[in-house]
Amino acid sequence: MASRTALITSVLLLVVPSSSSYVKFDLHGIYTGGRLTHQGTAAGVERTPSTTEAAVRSRIRLQAALTITVDQSGKGNYTKIQDAINAVPKNNNSGSAGGVLIKIMPGTYSEKVIVDKTGISLIGTSASSTIVTWSGRWTSEDSATIHVRCTGSDFVARNITFQNTYGPGAQAIAARVSGDKAAFYGCRFVSFQDTILDETGRHYYSNCYVEGATDFMFGNGKAFFEKCHLNSTSTNGGAFTAHGREAEANKTGFSFVDCNLTGIRVGKSILGRPWFPYARVVFARCNMSNAVDPVGWNNWGHPENERTAFFGQFQCYGEGSRTDARVSWSHNHMSPAEAKPFLTKEDWVDGKEWIN
Ligand SMILES: *[C@@H]1O[C@H](CO)[C@@H](O)[C@H](O)[C@H]1NC(C)=O
Ligand SMILES: *[C@@H]1O[C@H](CO)[C@@H](O)[C@H](O)[C@H]1NC(C)=O
Ligand SMILES: *[C@@H]1O[C@H](CO)[C@@H](O)[C@H](O)[C@H]1NC(C)=O
Ligand SMILES: *[C@@H]1O[C@H](CO)[C@@H](O)[C@H](O)[C@H]1NC(C)=O
Ligand SMILES: *[C@@H]1O[C@H](CO)[C@@H](O)[C@H](O)[C@H]1NC(C)=O
Ligand SMILES: *[C@@H]1O[C@H](CO)[C@@H](O)[C@H](O)[C@H]1NC(C)=O
Ligand SMILES: *[C@@H]1O[C@H](CO)[C@@H](O)[C@H](O)[C@H]1NC(C)=O
Repeated sequence: MASRTALITSVLLLVVPSSSSYVKFDLHGIYTGGRLTHQGTAAGVERTPSTTEAAVRSRIRLQAALTITVDQSGKGNYTKIQDAINAVPKNNNSGSAGGVLIKIMPGTYSEKVIVDKTGISLIGTSASSTIVTWSGRWTSEDSATIHVRCTGSDFVARNITFQNTYGPGAQAIAARVSGDKAAFYGCRFVSFQDTILDETGRHYYSNCYVEGATDFMFGNGKAFFEKCHLNSTSTNGGAFTAHGREAEANKTGFSFVDCNLTGIRVGKSILGRPWFPYARVVFARCNMSNAVDPVGWNNWGHPENERTAFFGQFQCYGEGSRTDARVSWSHNHMSPAEAKPFLTKEDWVDGKEWIN
């Protein structure tokens, strides 16, 4: 609990002050404060599934042993998403029998959702009509609107908005993703500070919208964002990412391919800063608007991070992609060979084995 408390303290110190100053960039505490405590294990990040297991995984995506409907109007099996998840027997869903499909009819579901079982798919009607919302600040383990725990691997969400309406002033996570092999299609993630905690495991985000201001995609996950729209609502000192790779041995990092980066203010959001020293973030073929601060990145107050963090871009375009004013230590002109591992979901997150 000590390290958790330390983390909370350190993170809260980073809250953007509404006025002036660079208090936000004073990172003391982040390194003394220790790390997130994970439930379960992050071992999945480093391991490659066997071929047989891979075959089973893809079948899970195609057929479901069980379909449950959640409908606020009372016409489904449940009116709350969590009740549907609770009704699924634990680990009932791994293996050849397929997973569990939970269809969520249009509505605004005011609840916090915890996914702690394998093979769950949450399917909304459209992100604009199926909305899961909560207003939570980081005060406890599960303050996020949705938390896919380490025990909730092989997770899929489609066509759903996850939002945290807390607003500025504290860490307010919309989605915390700690389970391995989680995929999001056509989802919207909306908050202000720390919208997505991509914590541990391999994850895929396709055609998603992510809105936030401060460090709004962060964590030590290995994630592939494809054709997503990232929209910064920062008016000053914002950062699209704060990756948290702790050690050179971690294979983690965020890769953004064919994404749009926009924002509500010109030049007020950097692409990222290193939450932990070995942070790794690459933007490839992304359309960067002038919302991107020309410097691109910063070292979060620790010059030594410049030697360990890897921040790069490859074939990006748009006004915000200009590299003439970038910090000297960023990788602004990655070669095709350097970029290659980051460019496909197959290469970056072993997609062939678990993504349809
Ligand atoms: C859901 O409701 C339908 C219609 O009442 C019913 O046929 C089905 O068995 C229910 N499924 C579950 C998993 O409860
Ligand atoms: C999962 O649980 C449901 C409901 O109890 C059951 O109908 C189904 O057969 C179970 N599937 C497996 C693979 O155990
Ligand atoms: C998700 O929504 C889009 C339109 O918004 C629709 O074309 C697609 O079929 C939906 N997907 C699912 C799985 O319902
Ligand atoms: C990027 O923006 C363009 C222009 O608005 C749009 O046509 C395209 O669909 C967007 N792509 C993504 C991934 O958001
Ligand atoms: C970015 O988000 C703000 C706040 O929700 C919104 O007003 C604006 O239209 C969004 N920008 C784009 C390009 O979607
Ligand atoms: C990162 O590496 C450290 C040191 O080897 C290890 O303790 C930690 O579990 C790794 N984390 C991840 C997410 O791989
Ligand atoms: C790039 O984004 C800008 C808005 O920032 C948009 O006007 C333009 O159409 C986009 N270009 C492409 C090729 O998507």
